[in-house]
Amino acid sequence: MAKSLYLLALAFIASSEVVYGIEEWTIGNFTKQDAVNPVMGPRDNTTFFCPVRQEIVNWEKKDVFNPTALVRDGKIHMLYRAEDEVGAFKGTSRIGLAVSTDGFTFEREEEPIFYPDNDDANIYEWEGGCEDPRIVELNGTYYLTYTGYDGELARLMVATSFDLRNWTKHGLVFGKANNGSYENMWSKSGAVVTTLQDEKFVATQINGKFWMYFGESNIYAATSEDLINWTPVVDPNEESEDEYKLLPIFGPREGRFDSDIVEPGPQAIIREEGIVLIYNSRNKNPNSGGDPELPLGTYSAGQVLLNVTSPTQLIGRTENYFITPDRDYEIIGQVNNVVFVEGLVNYKNKWHLYYGTADSKIALAVIE
Ligand SMILES: *[C@@H]1O[C@H](CO)[C@@H](O)[C@H](O)[C@H]1NC(C)=O
Ligand SMILES: *[C@@H]1O[C@H](CO)[C@@H](O)[C@H](O)[C@H]1NC(C)=O
Ligand SMILES: *[C@@H]1O[C@H](CO)[C@@H](O)[C@H](O)[C@H]1NC(C)=O
Ligand SMILES: *[C@@H]1O[C@H](CO)[C@@H](O)[C@H](O)[C@H]1NC(C)=O
Ligand SMILES: *[C@@H]1O[C@H](CO)[C@@H](O)[C@H](O)[C@H]1NC(C)=O
Ligand SMILES: *[C@@H]1O[C@H](CO)[C@@H](O)[C@H](O)[C@H]1NC(C)=O
Repeated sequence: MAKSLYLLALAFIASSEVVYGIEEWTIGNFTKQDAVNPVMGPRDNTTFFCPVRQEIVNWEKKDVFNPTALVRDGKIHMLYRAEDEVGAFKGTSRIGLAVSTDGFTFEREEEPIFYPDNDDANIYEWEGGCEDPRIVELNGTYYLTYTGYDGELARLMVATSFDLRNWTKHGLVFGKANNGSYENMWSKSGAVVTTLQDEKFVATQINGKFWMYFGESNIYAATSEDLINWTPVVDPNEESEDEYKLLPIFGPREGRFDSDIVEPGPQAIIREEGIVLIYNSRNKNPNSGGDPELPLGTYSAGQVLLNVTSPTQLIGRTENYFITPDRDYEIIGQVNNVVFVEGLVNYKNKWHLYYGTADSKIALAVIE
């Protein structure tokens, strides 16, 4: 406790004096909303009849975190990951829906809107569940990328809906690519390339294809013609030692906040200067290869700029993070020292960034 208080004090000093990671092209200078944070925490009074377990569960009792967000009918809709506390992992993940008209206070639905069921996706989703949603839209359809977790392998999956409540699961995003050879590849965090159009993040083709960044450790790219079936971009270098020969778009950096892993944040956005991707990252041991000022395992977020005519080309990267854990609920939780950014909306001309804190709660940062 003493150590975390010390770190907390340090962080407050740092955040009042230094503006981290702000460059010309960044979506920058987010301020944590201390007056309302955390905006959401677990609840023990909502129940759901789990069709797989055939039992009633308190589906959001343990933790709520890692939300995506979008604007629909003039309201912010947040789709958040919620864990129960039963079963083999003492926590199966489902996705709940919360709606807000001010961005700060949310009305939650009593039951999850997306969850493991007795369906074709069950072998990939049970009993870890459906994790870490990200959403984009096109032509009135919502495309949800999420992680299916069977307890051993995380696999990127996709589902569609017209109304955010009735969902069609389409299975693995890479299920059909290269004759099914990616079926058992660890994959996560699909951030589709979009354009902001009247508060909507609309999936946008580049050179005749949709694009997505994904991965955990390195960040990779994939393309698609229908936003459902995706093909990873492979490395033209035949000497590649990657098991699946994927082309790394960018990876961790020694000695910095992103020294251990990098992983996409919210949807990627085409802006004037290029494609901006906000990414999450984890620090190595501060004494051996990590940022010496951040504890081992700290999740902070940075931003990169990619070439809009050549989306595998990195053209900019923030020197430092723009958000890092320094509030008590970001430092202590299911996993300590985590801010995990995933929900980005532009609502009434203001950027709102929703993020998971210590894998336990949800908080908000905005650009004032
Ligand atoms: C960031 O925002 C803070 C307060 O919200 C302000 O004091 C600071 O000048 C801003 N920095 C930049 C680079 O815009
Ligand atoms: C659960 O508790 C919260 C906070 O006390 C309350 O606002 C909400 O209405 C309750 N929900 C149900 C389903 O009882
Ligand atoms: C979206 O709509 C446009 C025009 O109506 C159409 O050309 C396009 O094929 C549609 N895209 C998808 C992915 O359905
Ligand atoms: C749910 O969506 C499917 C596919 O679009 C449709 O066939 C079905 O009628 C919808 N169900 C409800 C209850 O809206
Ligand atoms: C694709 O996989 C199937 C089943 O594993 C195999 O029978 C078939 O030969 C493969 N096709 C190609 C083109 O590799
Ligand atoms: C982006 O890629 C194009 C080729 O597709 C190239 O001509 C251009 O110089 C690149 N831009 C930057 C900033 O590197």
